[in-house]
Amino acid sequence: MSTSAEVRDVTPNDIDAVAAIEAVSFPDPWSRRAFAALVGREEVVFLVATRDDRVVGFAVAWYAADQGELSNLAVDSADRRGGVGAQLLEAVMDRGRARGAVDLWLEVRESNVAARQLYQRQQFEEAGIRKAYYDAPREDAVIMRRSIGRQ
Ligand SMILES: CC(C)(COP(=O)(O)OP(=O)(O)OC[C@H]1O[C@@H](n2cnc3c(N)ncnc32)[C@H](O)[C@@H]1OP(=O)(O)O)[C@@H](O)C(=O)NCCC(=O)NCCS
Repeated sequence: MSTSAEVRDVTPNDIDAVAAIEAVSFPDPWSRRAFAALVGREEVVFLVATRDDRVVGFAVAWYAADQGELSNLAVDSADRRGGVGAQLLEAVMDRGRARGAVDLWLEVRESNVAARQLYQRQQFEEAGIRKAYYDAPREDAVIMRRSIGRQ
């Protein structure tokens, strides 16, 4: 079993590492500039996971009123299956709860077995399908939702 990573808010110094993980994780990666523009925004929760001070994963979520949307999550290929993705997701939900959010929504490529398993294990439920939502390659999105409000 791996030791847990440290999860903290992103800083401008992390952006190169985040963009590098993004580039190996998605066929249609966000640009470095897109990530840099999110740092410090009030409505954005942008977290990184580190091991020995090396960034091994990140998550980006938007929270408005009592709703949140996870818009990006990735773990470096060499560090997958060590619990980092789950840890980032839990941290994103904790931050949302602290802001008074009651739901966290996300979209995931239909063929993304790893992510869908992770979300299912974290009690996300399928809420619908968005036809041809993704490009390169064109693919449907599965919409998922999890209630994160205080019980
Ligand atoms: C999806 C992703 C973030 C998961 O990160 P991770 O750190 O490997 O996930 P964890 O180690 O926390 O896995 C938690 C659980 O998710 C499921 N899971 C994760 N990877 C899986 C895989 N390749 N196949 C099947 N199930 C998987 C398992 O249930 C796993 O628990 P287990 O290891 O005890 O079986 C990672 O695979 C990734 O970065 N993928 C590319 C980017 C991406 O698809 N992001 C999501 C976009 S919506």
